[in-house]
Amino acid sequence: MNFKELASEYKTPLYVYDLDYMSEQYQELKSAFKGRKSILAYAVKANSNLSVIKHFADLGSGADCVSIGEVRRAFLAGVPAYKIIFSGVGKSDDEIREAIQKDILYINVESEAELFRVEVIAKELNKTSRISIRVNPNIDPKTHPYISTGLHDNKFGVDIDTAKRMFILAKNSESLDPVGVHFHIGSQLTHLEPIYEAAVIVADMLRSLEAIDIELKFFDVGGGLGITYDDEVTIKPYDYAQAILGTLKGLDLTVICEPGRFLTANAGYFVSKVLYEKQNGDKKFVVIDGAMNDLLRPSLYGAYHKVQAITDSTSDVRNVDIVGPVCESSDFFAKDCLLPELNRNDLIVVHSAGAYGFGMGSNYNSRGRSAEVAVQNGEARLVRKRENFEDLVALEKEFL
Ligand code: LLP
Repeated sequence: MNFKELASEYKTPLYVYDLDYMSEQYQELKSAFKGRKSILAYAVKANSNLSVIKHFADLGSGADCVSIGEVRRAFLAGVPAYKIIFSGVGKSDDEIREAIQKDILYINVESEAELFRVEVIAKELNKTSRISIRVNPNIDPKTHPYISTGLHDNKFGVDIDTAKRMFILAKNSESLDPVGVHFHIGSQLTHLEPIYEAAVIVADMLRSLEAIDIELKFFDVGGGLGITYDDEVTIKPYDYAQAILGTLKGLDLTVICEPGRFLTANAGYFVSKVLYEKQNGDKKFVVIDGAMNDLLRPSLYGAYHKVQAITDSTSDVRNVDIVGPVCESSDFFAKDCLLPELNRNDLIVVHSAGAYGFGMGSNYNSRGRSAEVAVQNGEARLVRKRENFEDLVALEKEFL
C-alpha cells in the first residue's frame, strides 16, 4: 500500500480499505463452513461504507443490521432481502414495520415485549413476520467488558427458558413465523471454548423444541471472531466452524455467521499527517491531524492499534505519545511508542482501523469526517468524500 501517494492524492486524515484483503478473509471463513449450508451475513456496523457492503454482497454475503438505517444501506448496496437480518435490543415500531414490509430474512427478536410488538405490527400489515430469537446463554466470552454480550448482566437477548416460551408463542401466532435462533456472546473473541459452550446450550434447546414440533431453519452464531491487533493469538476460522458444526449433529439447519471485525479490521488503515512535535516536561507528543472523532477505539476502550511512521528521519527513536487536536486528554492513538524525530507532513498510519473506525466517528469539535478510499487490484478509488464545513452546518443553517 503506497500511503504517501494516497495521502498526497486524497489528503489526510484518510481511511484506506484493502478490498482484496476483505475478499480473502471472506473466502477463508466461508470455506471453513463447507459441508453445511451457510450464509455469512456481514455485520454492517463494523464498516458501513456502501462500497464495502457492496463488495461483500458481490461475494455472496448477506447483511446483519442493527438499525433500519443499516437495513436501508444493505438494500442500497445490493444485498438481497432474503439475506438481511435485523437485530438490536431497541427497535422502534417504524423500524419493525419497514423490516416486515421489506420482507427481509428475519427480525431477530431480543425480548418478550418486542415479540408482542412484532406480532401486533405484522397483524396490522396483514403479514406474517419471520423471526429469530436471540438467546443469551450466560457465558463469559473473556473479552473487553464493553464488547461482551453473552452474560445475563448484559442487555442482549433472553435466557433459555424465556426463549422457549417465546418460540411456543410465536409458533402459535398467525402473524409470526419462527425460523431461527441467534446468539452472539461478544466481540474480539480469542477463546474458542465460550463459543463452543454457547453453541452446545443453544443446540440442545433446539433439540428440545424439535421434540414439541418446533423446527427452525437457521442457527445464527453471531459474529465475534477476534483479530490480531498486537500479539493476540486468534481462533482459526476452520476450528471455529468445526466446533460449531460439531454441536449440530442430527439437526438440519443452515448456519449463519455475522462477522464484522474479522472481515474488515486488518483491511483498514487510518492515515494522518504530523503537524507538530511538542514537549511538556518529560513528555514528548507527536500531534497529528487525525483525532478521536475519526477513530474512537483508543479513547473509548483503551484499545491498542499498531502505529507506523512514514518518514525520512534517521534520528534515534524516542518515547512519544501520538495525539490529535481535539480538546480531550483522551484524544490519543498510541502511548509510549518508540519513534524517530518526525517532521511536519510525515505520515502516521494507524493499523487495524477497518472495523469500528469510521463508523464510530463523530463531528466532535466541528471536525468533518475523513474521506474513505478503497484499493482493489492495485487501483485506488474514493468511496466517501471528505466532509466539509457546509456538510456540518447543513441541518442547522435555516434556523438562524
Ligand atoms: N452480530 C451481532 C449481533 C453483534 O452485536 C455484533 C457486534 C456482530 C455480529 C459483529 O461482531 P464482530 O464480528 O465485529 O466482532 N465497537 C466495538 C465492537 C462492538 C461490537 C458490537 N456487536 C469495538 O470497536 O471493538
